[in-house]
Amino acid sequence: MNKEKKYIRLKEQIEKLTKDIGEPLSVMATINAVLHHKMPGFFWTGFYLLNKNGDLLVGPYQGTLACILLEKNKGVCWAGINRKETVIVDDVETFEGHIACSSLSKSEIVVPLFDGNEKVVGVLDVDSRELANFDETDKKFLEEIVHLIYH
Ligand code: SME
Repeated sequence: MNKEKKYIRLKEQIEKLTKDIGEPLSVMATINAVLHHKMPGFFWTGFYLLNKNGDLLVGPYQGTLACILLEKNKGVCWAGINRKETVIVDDVETFEGHIACSSLSKSEIVVPLFDGNEKVVGVLDVDSRELANFDETDKKFLEEIVHLIYH
């Protein structure tokens, strides 16, 4: 099955599982579990969330142990927060300030998460052990899936 068809199926599955749940953390945990175990090449899948003090802290995730707190305005996740748009990094070693929670991660996609008032409240971050694992198809569907959390 090609990547687009796979995402269509997984998005439907996530919609069914999370419909009327209304609890963002539970929806995030479910999204992680579905994507991490069903998308090939997803080595680390999880959310980083802004707290009241403006710190970016790890939320629900699947994969190896991750950094708990990300240094402010550094790395790919903070780039997603500050730019308020999806960031695709084909080779993390070329991204100035990249924060390596695992040396096995080679490429990465970060999708901003907006609440019901369209305020950025965190990001979905997916890492792969393959270089250039993420493209416009991942961007399109991950943005749609993340949108389900608060809408
Ligand atoms: N690489 C991220 C940090 C989070 S880990 O990949 C799980 C970054 O540069 O923000």
